[in-house]
Amino acid sequence: MQTQTEQQTGADWLAVLDEESRGLVAAVDAQPDGRRILEGTLDRDGYIHYLVQTYHYARWSTPILAEAGHRLNRLGRHPELAALLIQKGEEERGHDRWLLSDLKNLGWSEAQVEAAERSPAVDAYTGWNFFTSRSGVPTAVLGTAYALEYLSQTRAGVWAERLKAVAAIPNIHKSVTFLRSHGALDGDHVAEMKRILGPLTDPEDQQAILFSARVARAVYPRIFREGGASSHPLAR
Ligand SMILES: [Fe+2]
Ligand SMILES: [Fe+2]
Repeated sequence: MQTQTEQQTGADWLAVLDEESRGLVAAVDAQPDGRRILEGTLDRDGYIHYLVQTYHYARWSTPILAEAGHRLNRLGRHPELAALLIQKGEEERGHDRWLLSDLKNLGWSEAQVEAAERSPAVDAYTGWNFFTSRSGVPTAVLGTAYALEYLSQTRAGVWAERLKAVAAIPNIHKSVTFLRSHGALDGDHVAEMKRILGPLTDPEDQQAILFSARVARAVYPRIFREGGASSHPLAR
């Protein structure tokens, strides 16, 4: 008898990865602030909260991806996936600066962003990815990367356009660089990942990637304010 785990891997595992990623998009849309950002009606505090929390994980993307790639090479496994991880680390370099620039145009200094409280979701997300990168199955980092880039190709550009169209936030036109850039880039990045992951047949790696995508689906939607605008202020 096959276990549930074995049923999820094999030839169809990339379809399961897409299913996890669609689940992430649905979970984000179901958050109060996720719905508002999709409608373009998110208020300034909610958008700042989202950007600040995004900064606190995006700043670690390059080291997480690069360390996973180099460790995979040291382990002598999947050189093509190691190269993909290292390449993705380079792709992510400097994206935290886009967030700081968007936040500056909304009146938030770098010092304020640095001092802001991180949400438990951000700590869980970075903690999980540092664990898999440095100590777990390093290919797992590709699971969170895939799910977030899938979300990005599906939502980032739309969010940027609607926030600008509704213009509920002063200076919003100068504060959507992070979203606009990801909307433009991540469609190609998802297609490339799918192409490179296609030949992967190792069930342990497939399972690690799927599990990590599931972690992203569970954790990432909580980077938005809990309960939307009625929640605690971000900075103490
Ligand atoms: Fe990025
Ligand atoms: Fe990307």
